[in-house]
Amino acid sequence: MEQQKHFQPDLKSIPKTEPEDAGHAEGKDGTRKPKGIDFTLKPEELESYLNKYVVDQPEAVEVMATKICTHFNRMRYEIENNISHDQTLGNIKSNILMIGPTGVGKTFIIKLIADRIGVPFVKGDATKFSETGYVGGDVEDLVRELVKEADDNIELAEYGIVYIDEIDKIASSPGHWGPDVSRTGVQRNLLKLMEETEVDMKVPHDLASQMEAVVQAQRTGKAERKKVNTRNILFVVSGAFEGLEEIIQKRLSKRGMGFKSDVGLTPTEKANLFKNTTTRDLINYGFESEFIGRLPVTVTLNELNEESLFQILKNPNCAVIKAKKREFKSYGIELEFAGDALRVLAENAAKEETGARGLLSAVEKVLIRFEKKLPSTGIDKLVVNCQLIENPLEVLQDLTFNHSLEFYTEYFESETGIRLSFTDDAKAMITDKVADKESDTTAYLEKQLKDFIFGSKLMGIEELVVSVEILKDPQLVLDRMIKEAYDKKAQQ
Ligand SMILES: Nc1ncnc2c1ncn2[C@@H]1O[C@H](COP(=O)(O)OP(=O)(O)OP(=O)(O)O)[C@@H](O)[C@H]1O
Ligand SMILES: [Mg+2]
Repeated sequence: MEQQKHFQPDLKSIPKTEPEDAGHAEGKDGTRKPKGIDFTLKPEELESYLNKYVVDQPEAVEVMATKICTHFNRMRYEIENNISHDQTLGNIKSNILMIGPTGVGKTFIIKLIADRIGVPFVKGDATKFSETGYVGGDVEDLVRELVKEADDNIELAEYGIVYIDEIDKIASSPGHWGPDVSRTGVQRNLLKLMEETEVDMKVPHDLASQMEAVVQAQRTGKAERKKVNTRNILFVVSGAFEGLEEIIQKRLSKRGMGFKSDVGLTPTEKANLFKNTTTRDLINYGFESEFIGRLPVTVTLNELNEESLFQILKNPNCAVIKAKKREFKSYGIELEFAGDALRVLAENAAKEETGARGLLSAVEKVLIRFEKKLPSTGIDKLVVNCQLIENPLEVLQDLTFNHSLEFYTEYFESETGIRLSFTDDAKAMITDKVADKESDTTAYLEKQLKDFIFGSKLMGIEELVVSVEILKDPQLVLDRMIKEAYDKKAQQ
C-alpha cells in the first residue's frame, strides 16, 4: 500500500465489504461515507460488480465502469509517478452525462460505483441552484458538501464524485424552469467547477461559517487550508431530457433517415433515438457548447420493460424485496414471494411507466394493509402469491380470521383438553357477526363459548364440533349435551 500513501493521507484502510444495502440506491440521507479507496480496480471488475445489481443496462454499465475506472487509475498513476499537473497534457477529465427516463438506474449506477470505489460522493439537483446562490443554493455548495462527506478531509474530497440530477432543467430552451439568463448562469458556474477551480470552504454570506473559521484558527493557532481544488473531482450529470427526441428526430429525418415524425413514440423508440444524441442536439436543446464540451462521455439508458422489471425483482439483491422483507421481519413476520407473484408485480409496475420506481409502489399497494394488520395478530408468516396481489383485502380477512380461530382453538384446548373444530356454516356465521359488530373474532368466540370452557369438562369428550346451533344458543346446547352425557353414563 506504499503507493497509495500520498493519495489517502489520513484515511485508514478500512476493509471493503460488499454493501449489504447496495440495492438501496437512495440512502436514508441520500449520502454515503467513504469506506477506503480502491484505485486498482479494473474496468471489467467494476463492470461485473455492477452487473450483480443492475439489470438490462449493459451499455451504460460498460461505459461508466470503464471511464470511471480509468479516471481513478489515471490519477493513481500520476501520483505514483509524481507527474505534476503541469506536466500532464492539459486536464482531460471524463465527466459523464447520463440520459434516461425516470427509474431506470441512473442514480443507482453512480451510487454503486461511488460505493465500490469508496470515494466521497454527493448528489445534487440542478433545479436547486441559482446563478447568484441567493435563492436555493450555489453550485459550490456541492463541493463543500463533498468535504463534509469526506469527514472534513479536503484532500480526500478532491477525489470525490459529484452527481447532479435534472441537468436538463438548466437548458435554456423555452418551457423550462426559471428565466433563461439564470439557467445559462448556472451552466457557466458549473462549467467552472467541472473544469478546475478553487472552492472556498467559507461561504461568503454565511456568518456562522466565518465564525467557525475564526474559532478554529484560535483553537489550533493556525489558519487551516480552506480551499478545495476541483481538478480531479469527477462530475456525473443526468436527466430525462424530455423533448430531446424531437430534436434528434428532426435532424435524422432531414437526412432522410425515415424516422416517424409527429407520431407519438413508444418509450423504446424514444430510448433508441437518444442513442443517436450528438453535441449539436444538446446545444439545440439549450446547453452552452462550452458546458457540453466538459462532458465528453454520454451514456443513454434503456427503458425498462416488464421483463426487465421481473428480472429486477428476481435478483437476490433486489432492494425493494429485501427492504420489504426486513420491514416485516422487524415485526417478527417472515415474508415470502412466490415466483408467479413477482411476474404479476412486474406487470403492475410496468403499467405505471416509472421504470423500477413502479416496483416499489406496486409492492406497497399490495402489502400496506398487511403491514398495518399483521403485527397485532401474532401471525408470523406471509406468502405473497397471485391471489393475494389480486385480492389483498379478502386474503387478509381470511388470514386473520383463520388465525383467530386457530388462536382460540389452542386456548380452548389448553383450558379443557378438548380440540375444537368449526362447521363451514359456523365459520360463515362468525364472519358475519364479526363484520356486523366490528368486534374481534376471538372476543366473539370467548363470549359465546364461555360456558363451554367449564361445561365441556363434565362431558368427558375429546373433540367438539362448533355448529351454528351452539353459536346461536350456547347455554341450551350445553345443557342438553351435559344431560345426554350423564344419561349415557347412567346407562353404562
Ligand atoms: N436497471 C436497474 N436494475 C436494477 N434495479 C434498478 C434499475 N434501475 C432502477 N433500479 C431500482 O430502482 C430504484 C430507483 O432507480 P434510480 O434511483 O436509479 O432511478 P433514476 O434513473 O435515477 O430515476 P430518476 O430520474 O427518477 O431519478 C433504484 O434504487 C434501484 O433499486
Ligand atoms: Mg435519480
